[in-house]
Amino acid sequence: MTPLRWRGDRLEVLDQALLPHEERWRDCRSSADVVAAITEMAVRGAPAIGITAAFGIVLAARGGEDLAAAARLLKAARPTAVNLAGAVDRMLAVGTEVGRLEREARALWEEDRASCDAIGRAGLPWVPEGARILTHCNTGALATGGDGTALAVIRAAHRAGTVSRVYCTETRPWLQGARLTAWELASEGIEYRLLVDSAAAGLLRSGGVDLVIVGADRVALNGDVANKVGTLSLAFAARACGVPFHVAIPLSTLDRHTTTGADIPVEERGADEVRVVRGRPVAAPGTPVWNPAFDVTPAELVSGFVTDAGAIEPPYGVWPAG
Ligand code: MRU
Repeated sequence: MTPLRWRGDRLEVLDQALLPHEERWRDCRSSADVVAAITEMAVRGAPAIGITAAFGIVLAARGGEDLAAAARLLKAARPTAVNLAGAVDRMLAVGTEVGRLEREARALWEEDRASCDAIGRAGLPWVPEGARILTHCNTGALATGGDGTALAVIRAAHRAGTVSRVYCTETRPWLQGARLTAWELASEGIEYRLLVDSAAAGLLRSGGVDLVIVGADRVALNGDVANKVGTLSLAFAARACGVPFHVAIPLSTLDRHTTTGADIPVEERGADEVRVVRGRPVAAPGTPVWNPAFDVTPAELVSGFVTDAGAIEPPYGVWPAG
C-alpha cells in the first residue's frame, strides 16, 4: 500500500478522497497539480504530504517554473503539517539541478520509510499484552512513506501478538478513520472496531481501552501536539480515565522553531466539508460553520512520544538531534 508513485516525468497520487470505494491514481505533472492534490486531500497525512511536496519541487524544476514561487504555494497548501515546509526547505537547499533534486526527494521518501520502521520498533514496549488500542484519523501507510506512525506501532505490536483489538474513530469530517484506517487494519488482518468520534469517551470510561496512540502534524518544542481535530478530546478523556495517551512521530514532525502549541497555525477548511456529507447536504445551505482541521493537545496530557529516535518521556524540551 503506497500513496505515491514516482514515474520520472510525473508523480502519481492515489486519490485518498475516493478510497476505499474507488482506487484512482491522479497524475501530477507540475507543482500546481501537486498543490491541488494536497489541498483537495487526494494525498494527506503529514509525512506523505512532505514527500509529495518534495516531488512538487522536482516537477517545478523539470518544468522550468520559478522555484521560489512554487515553494511558497506548496507550503501554503496545508499550513499545519510541518513536514511539508520542512521538505520544501530541504529541497530548496539542494539547488535547481533536476537530477540532484530527484535524488533528494527519493532520499526523503526512503528516510521516512526507515523512520516508520524505527517508530514501530520503539513503540513495542508501550503496548501491553492483549492490548486494546484506540487511535484517531489515519496514520498508516497512506499517510507516510512507509508503514505509518501510530499505525506502525499497531502493526509491529500485531506482528508481535500483543494486540487484541484496535478501535478507530471515524474522524469527521473527512472520515479518514472510517475510510482509510479501517481499510488498512482489515487488510492487515487486525481485529478492529470502527466507532463514531463521540463514542470514544464512553469507551474509555468503560475501561475498554488500554492505550491511546495517535500521530501528529506538528509538535512544538515544549511537547504540545497539533493533530487531527478530535485528538484533544481523546487526550482529555484518556487523562480523566487514567489511560496512557501516546503520540508517535518521526522527528521531522518536531518543529524546532516553534516553542509552544500557541504558535502553531491551525488550518481552517471550507464550510461544506461539514455541511455536506459524501455529496449529500445535511445542514441547511448557508449554515455558518467553524471547521478547524486540527487541534492542539497540551504536552501535559501526553504520556510519551514514540519517535524514530526512541521513546521520549516527560518532561519534554530536550529532543534528540534529527
Ligand atoms: O488532514 P489529514 O488527513 O492530513 O490529517 C492527518 C493527521 O492528522 C495525522 O494524524 C497526522 O498527519 C499524522 S500521520 C502520520
